[in-house]
Amino acid sequence: MTDGELPPAPPEVASVVPDDPARARLQSYAEFLASAGVERGLLGPREVPRLWDRHLLNCAVVAPMVPAGAHVIDVGSGAGLPGLVWAIVRSDITLTCLESLQRRATYLEEAVGALGLTDRVSVVRARAEDVVRGRASESSLRGDVVTARAVAPLDKLAGWTVPLLKPGGDLLALKGQSAADEVEAARTVLERLGIDSVEIVQCGEGIVDPPTTVVRARKAR
Ligand SMILES: C[S@@+](CC[C@H](N)C(=O)[O-])C[C@H]1O[C@@H](n2cnc3c(N)ncnc32)[C@H](O)[C@@H]1O
Repeated sequence: MTDGELPPAPPEVASVVPDDPARARLQSYAEFLASAGVERGLLGPREVPRLWDRHLLNCAVVAPMVPAGAHVIDVGSGAGLPGLVWAIVRSDITLTCLESLQRRATYLEEAVGALGLTDRVSVVRARAEDVVRGRASESSLRGDVVTARAVAPLDKLAGWTVPLLKPGGDLLALKGQSAADEVEAARTVLERLGIDSVEIVQCGEGIVDPPTTVVRARKAR
């Protein structure tokens, strides 16, 4: 394997995604990211050799936290992480990718078409805060789960995501080592927005190193 080349799927993929058609679709998405994603600047070429562990598996191990049949909103979806990975491995969910940049939203629409997911996945080009404030055409958009990865610190992200949750819904924010500090900094704003429980969950121990750290913030019913 040379630098920048997509490695074969590691053996852990089979345990995280036991379903054959879903695994084949995940492979197609990996190839799409490694080709069109890099050519169009959504993914750095240096990320390709670590695409499986650092990006695809890192997101896939969180998918069991999504309740059955949920509608998920992925805020700042970028190249489709984690939203498209979850839609691939969980055929029971529907997904809206919310992305502010037109270029990225166009890419996402193409990815959704290429992966045959148009019946369950839609793409909205808008800033999340404009949707929250009713300034975007999709201002009625609400999810059972709202997720975000690498978009903003939790205190800022909370204002763009918690209002998009249905009562009883979960914000699942994929975070790194700063998760506990971010939760502390965001505690007041989370309470003001109606969050009544917050926990930090490690996903994928023994599968991805380090495990994926998720902040789960549940909105009161
Ligand atoms: C660093 S990228 C992360 C993309 C993806 N979530 C990932 O983990 O690879 C952040 C993305 O959030 C989008 N974004 C930033 N602010 C946003 C906002 N207020 N509303 C919607 N999307 C936003 C950016 O355009 C960009 O695609």
